[in-house]
Amino acid sequence: MVDVHIDPEFDDRERRDRLFAGDVVVYTHVPEIAAFAEFARGLITEAFAPFEPRTVQEHRTPEELAEILIAFKPRFIHHPESIAHVRRIVTALGADPAAVYADVPKLRTAFPLGGLTTGIAYAFQPHRDTWYSAPLQQLNWWLPLWPVAPSNVMEFYPRGFGREVPNTSSSYDYTEWNAWRSRMSELNTRDTRVQPAPVAPLPPDEPRLCLVPPVGGVMLFSGDQLHASIPNTSGVARYSVDFRTVDVADLRSGRGAPGVDVAATGTSLGDFHRMTDGAAVPDDVMAAFDRPAAVPHGV
Ligand SMILES: [Fe+2]
Repeated sequence: MVDVHIDPEFDDRERRDRLFAGDVVVYTHVPEIAAFAEFARGLITEAFAPFEPRTVQEHRTPEELAEILIAFKPRFIHHPESIAHVRRIVTALGADPAAVYADVPKLRTAFPLGGLTTGIAYAFQPHRDTWYSAPLQQLNWWLPLWPVAPSNVMEFYPRGFGREVPNTSSSYDYTEWNAWRSRMSELNTRDTRVQPAPVAPLPPDEPRLCLVPPVGGVMLFSGDQLHASIPNTSGVARYSVDFRTVDVADLRSGRGAPGVDVAATGTSLGDFHRMTDGAAVPDDVMAAFDRPAAVPHGV
């Protein structure tokens, strides 16, 4: 059972507990989110000029789009203003920036089917971020930059939360994966990494939950939610930003999502930095997470 809370009044502590229990939280109108979306739209518009970003795929080949995005995405991710926006958003929504560590915000692009759908614009199949070595304390923040629709957004599989889904996360090693990532951007080569995925496809009647937040809104969910990008059949490109946060108190106490079927090696915690000063996650906390593959529950 997943509850969706729209513009809730509860505080950050209660929000984390509810997200760890599988709920999803949507804020529909946050000025700091709207400001980040406007900032990102400006940069994207510049990158694709003179074409309109949502229809640029009609004027550029998939190869040209890939080339533009390979140059543009790191520029956006590491723009000092990007992480400053994240800090303002986290603070505005009641989290304590001295306790929160975040990774850099990622720009996601989903071009309509038939265009660029691999590598730099890969549409993620059903997965949990925890299968990619995310800590069970991770919260995901997802915001659209232009209006989105059920035909180009993302979806959850609520029945999969806290329930074992046989998967290939045991073959995922965080360190190896990242070595590949840097090679890929250097060589502009095809991405042949095996994505952690369910062993068998989800049944066609698997219940789905698709939320469509407005621009200026954001969706929060646990990194242990089973979710996927929806193949884009809307005719226009979808642009969204997502970032991840953890609260150090949760890392220390172990409070987090269930992670019933996670067998990945290593941790992505090294990607997270404290919102107030950019400090890394303390060594003693890192040591507790950077472990060899855990034995998944129930196996
Ligand atoms: Fe994900």
